Amino acid sequence: MLVVTGVWGSFHPVFAQDKRISISAPDSLIETGLLKHILPRFSLKHNIRVTVTRAPETGNMAFQLDPSGLPVFKQNEEIWHLRVTGEDPNGYLKIFEDWLLSAIGKRAIEGFSPKAGGPFSTNVISVVAKRATATERDTNLGKSLAMKNCGRCHAIDESNRKKTIGSTPSFGALRTFQDWEYRFEAFYTLNPHPSFTQIEEVTPPFPAGSPPAITPIKLTLDELDEILAFTRQIEPADLGRAVQSN
Ligand code: HEC
Repeated sequence: MLVVTGVWGSFHPVFAQDKRISISAPDSLIETGLLKHILPRFSLKHNIRVTVTRAPETGNMAFQLDPSGLPVFKQNEEIWHLRVTGEDPNGYLKIFEDWLLSAIGKRAIEGFSPKAGGPFSTNVISVVAKRATATERDTNLGKSLAMKNCGRCHAIDESNRKKTIGSTPSFGALRTFQDWEYRFEAFYTLNPHPSFTQIEEVTPPFPAGSPPAITPIKLTLDELDEILAFTRQIEPADLGRAVQSN
């Protein structure tokens, strides 16, 4: 039996340890009642407590309509995506993601009958495929920007692997990080990039006395966005293989 306390969305079965994650969702999703239906099922199975927050960007994960996440279910034509927004040191977020995509998770989602708005479906694959075609041109732009700006060090795909610096992680290897998006969005603040990277209207000019030792990278935030869109559809490298950075 579940005891649901005054703060809705926080479920309190008795847990051996206090394992918890939090997830943000907009009111429009919360009000359907779906999360109240599925989250206790997940919590009971995995002993991980899930707190729902309304404020965006406050959880470890977010349910959102914005397609910058994993499509997980849809109601009518609205596709909901799960985006990991925080670190996942214990792997709980991955457990949640796997559960949501599992047969049990899908049954929980599809077994819910909302009071309004029609049933939820987990059949989002065809939509994803369609979207991939629609954005083909965008990712081509992102790919050429990545090749030109990042490809002298990072292997972007097989075509430039041989010309790159072996010790620099490939884009496929970087894609395996749970928080790869964060790292890409912030790459110009992460070493070694700051000494040779300028983002228009974001980074200060290079110090007058010490110009970059190598050909600098100059990008706008829009161009970085294109690189992210391209990177999103790169297959993460197979980490089952012996550890290799390239
Ligand atoms: C001159 C070589 C060079 C270029 C050009 C370069 N990188 Fe890197 N990048 C590196 C190296 C080396 C590392 C590994 C740093 C480490 O492991 O500490 C790295 C790491 C990264 C990381 C992971 C950072 C972290 O701390 O997790 C990201 C993300 C990244 N690069 C993105 C990019 C993008 C996007 C571009 C192009 C716009 C780019 N890099 C261009 C050399 C380069």
